Amino acid sequence: MAVSPSRRRFDDYRATVQERHRQGGAGSASSTHAPHHGHSDVDGSRAARSQKKIGDRTRSFFELFSAFWQLIQGHRGPIIAALGLLSVGIAIRLIPPLGTKLAIDSVLTVPARPLPEWLVAVPGVTSILGDPAVSPMRTLVAIALVVTVLTAVGTMINLLGRWLATKSVNKAQVSIRRRVFEHSMRLPLHHVYAMKSGGVASLIREDAGGVADLIFSMLYNPWRAIVQFCGSLVILMFVDWKLMVGGLILLPVVWVTHRTYINRIRPLFRDVRKQRQRIDSGATETFGGIRVVRTFSRSRTESSRYVREGDFLVRQQLFTWWWMRIIETIWEVVIPLASTGLLLYGGYQIIHGQLTLGDLMMFLVYLTMLLDPLATLAGSAVTFQNNLAGLDRILDVLEVDEELPSREGAARLSSQTQGGAISIRGVSFHYPASETPVLQDVSIEIAAGQTVALVGRSGAGKTTLTNLIARFYDPTAGEIHYNGVDLRDIELSSYRALLGIVEQDVFLFDGTIHENIAYARPKANRPDVIAAASAAAADEFILKMELGYDTVIGERGVKLSGGQRQRLAIARAILADPQILILDEATSNLDSQSERLIQSSLSDLLQDRTAVVIAHRLSTIAGADLIVVLEDGRVLETGTHAELLARGGHYQDMVNLQMNQSTSDASPPTVN
Ligand SMILES: Nc1ncnc2c1ncn2[C@@H]1O[C@H](COP(=O)(O)OP(=O)(O)O)[C@@H](O)[C@H]1O
Ligand SMILES: [Mg+2]
Repeated sequence: MAVSPSRRRFDDYRATVQERHRQGGAGSASSTHAPHHGHSDVDGSRAARSQKKIGDRTRSFFELFSAFWQLIQGHRGPIIAALGLLSVGIAIRLIPPLGTKLAIDSVLTVPARPLPEWLVAVPGVTSILGDPAVSPMRTLVAIALVVTVLTAVGTMINLLGRWLATKSVNKAQVSIRRRVFEHSMRLPLHHVYAMKSGGVASLIREDAGGVADLIFSMLYNPWRAIVQFCGSLVILMFVDWKLMVGGLILLPVVWVTHRTYINRIRPLFRDVRKQRQRIDSGATETFGGIRVVRTFSRSRTESSRYVREGDFLVRQQLFTWWWMRIIETIWEVVIPLASTGLLLYGGYQIIHGQLTLGDLMMFLVYLTMLLDPLATLAGSAVTFQNNLAGLDRILDVLEVDEELPSREGAARLSSQTQGGAISIRGVSFHYPASETPVLQDVSIEIAAGQTVALVGRSGAGKTTLTNLIARFYDPTAGEIHYNGVDLRDIELSSYRALLGIVEQDVFLFDGTIHENIAYARPKANRPDVIAAASAAAADEFILKMELGYDTVIGERGVKLSGGQRQRLAIARAILADPQILILDEATSNLDSQSERLIQSSLSDLLQDRTAVVIAHRLSTIAGADLIVVLEDGRVLETGTHAELLARGGHYQDMVNLQMNQSTSDASPPTVN
């Protein structure tokens, strides 16, 4: 068999990584330019299509650090306290090796040396240790006791510090996740669509979770390493400064391995995380569309796609594994070599009487204390880079401005704002992801309280126009005014609070029927909900259900029929009582009987509020104050039902078509 597809894709990926590295050098700027011909190759054609994607650059360590420091605002106090406790704990634990030296030199060596002068100078020491020349055993026991007590105290303090740090990690995790969650909800829609629902979940769970771990891998562990390193270095300096220089030689080694390899590893981790996000979003999508998957017997294809993507992830991870092991292996070699070298040198000094045996023993203990944190650092460098990559991706999301920022000094509308006139002036629009114009030079005046019907073929741009009125997008040219004020000068949330939208595709949350109807007004009581449901001709089927209004309807309302979902959505709108109402094929899933049932409540609903209605049924359209016929994003005709009929244009053709059909068939004609 030929090379497997994921193998080929992986080879491409490796070539990309090399290319990216060649371009960026080992520096932190690597892959600043690469994504356009780097990442997107890896991502495959689908992702390449949406041009400006989230996550096109890699940040420098300094940028990441300061961003991280911002993110953990509110947890800094406990973290700093943890670092303080850690320092004290380490300082205390640096003392015991001294006991080893004292025991060997002043008690066990024959003839015993006197206690060092500087130690005897410390008040109280002689009374605790006694005189080793008189009673060596008493001194030995005293040393053992002091060492034990110090170790215990140091350990307790370290434990306390660690506990504080762990608590902060968990709290920071929650707050960072919340921040990413809230920000993602306010992102411009096309960004949200590009991330996909499963992808967002992956980002929030994996990446945001990992960011909090940076408290350990970026602050706690390095701080421990630094304090322990400096502490043992200072002590070593007193013992033998030449030995200390030997320890210092290791520093550049740390630096070099860091710069050379670490900067290569982070982009790899980013890629792995990105791939995982792809897999998660793919799986979410598959299960979201499980009916389609089954209907077209695509289960095998979907599984094999999952397997293929997973396969690629495995290859990427194994590839990263090698890079990780390189660093660790270097350390596994460097540290024993360094100890051996220093042992040689120390032994030489002892033989020549320059150093005591106690000194060397103590030195070796301190040497482990010196190297240990470095080794830990090197080991955790990998996790560290992995978490940094997560931070990088989080920042990509957080950096995207929230949805359509309003202009400086935007006005807040009060929820009592009455009578909204909407004026659409020379609006043109294309979606952010494509250049194809969807609306061109559309102008419509909707007086306060009027109902406007949008008519036109599928793809004419009707939904798009309502998207602009709801300000899910801003027009690319022209303006939309509400009560004479440009929408961009109105605070978005206060404007949206006036809006009610019922779409053909009803979205329901997994919850009870009551909760779904009361979504816009969570405080509504049961009688209000029942009234709204009756007006939408929904109470009949609701009462037939076992638990009535407390029936749980499953994710996206899977346990309801299309028409039932639509009636719930209409009830939701009736209860919300919005100032501006958008009905986008809101009754398309209803049979003629149900539609007739809610017709009068719909006309009540449309009464006295500004409404934009997209519908097929002539009866709904004919009652509108203004009818706008759209085609290919342009306004063809506007006028009332009578005016347009009299004109004898497109509208009349459409009406005739529907008349003919309705004589033979009561179902709505499929204009759309
Ligand atoms: N999110 C989107 N991104 C890019 N193009 C879109 C998007 N939504 C709709 N379009 C395009 O805009 C055009 C108008 O769509 P739409 O307003 O939904 O039509 P209608 O509601 O009249 O059937 C269509 O050609 C469609 O392909
Ligand atoms: Mg539409």
